[in-house]
Amino acid sequence: MIRVAIDGPAGVGKSSTSKALATYFGFAYLDTGAMYRAAAWWCLNQGIDLDAEQPDENLIVATVGRLFTEDHFDISVDPANPDVTCDGESIAEAIRSREVSSHVSVVSSILPVRHLLIAAQRAFIAREENGDSFSHGAGIVAEGRDITTVVAPDAEVRVLLTAREEVRAARRADQSAGVAAVGADDVAARDKADSKVTSFMTAADGVTTVDNSDMDFSQTLDVLIRMVEDAM
Ligand code: C5P
Repeated sequence: MIRVAIDGPAGVGKSSTSKALATYFGFAYLDTGAMYRAAAWWCLNQGIDLDAEQPDENLIVATVGRLFTEDHFDISVDPANPDVTCDGESIAEAIRSREVSSHVSVVSSILPVRHLLIAAQRAFIAREENGDSFSHGAGIVAEGRDITTVVAPDAEVRVLLTAREEVRAARRADQSAGVAAVGADDVAARDKADSKVTSFMTAADGVTTVDNSDMDFSQTLDVLIRMVEDAM
């Protein structure tokens, strides 16, 4: 079982590269950002005021707790169909809305919320390790902000995927042109808020930095493929 942990800021192509890497090796794929997004979506859906000057943290923690402990939530770890569902309905699109993007950091910065999600993420990884799910037993690629440091610091492959700020800004501009329908997300503000609680701008000990500023998608993928092959 190979666990691949990939962290990094927005605009480095983390999700698309992680998904392609998982597909290449036939591994499972866990998008932890989707779990934080689902938590924020659920809070908004339950009428919690996330714009309040002092959001009600206890209420948020209890509400997110219900999402994960009452079995409302599920996430597919199939990289070919990375769906997220709530009560059996896909929320994959809803969690990418501008509304969710602009509120997710409020939810993800609450430590007890993080503890709930970290436990859920470790359970997904353990489920793959125990081989009791589908055909992805050979490994898992988990991506986010704190996978290399907190969720799976003992992963066989640990990568911080990054790029120079101006390159990330240009890629974000490209991306937001493509998602005009849902509205551009203020990713720089989100990275700033997120980096107060998770450290994904510099690599922790034992974590390999891959700076893909001057690489295209397939070059980035090749570098990661080689790292996984070396760990096999
Ligand atoms: O990766 P993505 O942009 O979908 O992540 C959405 C949000 O989820 C991030 O902005 C961050 O607030 C939160 N997140 C986190 N820890 C992770 C993954 C995502 O706090 N491991």
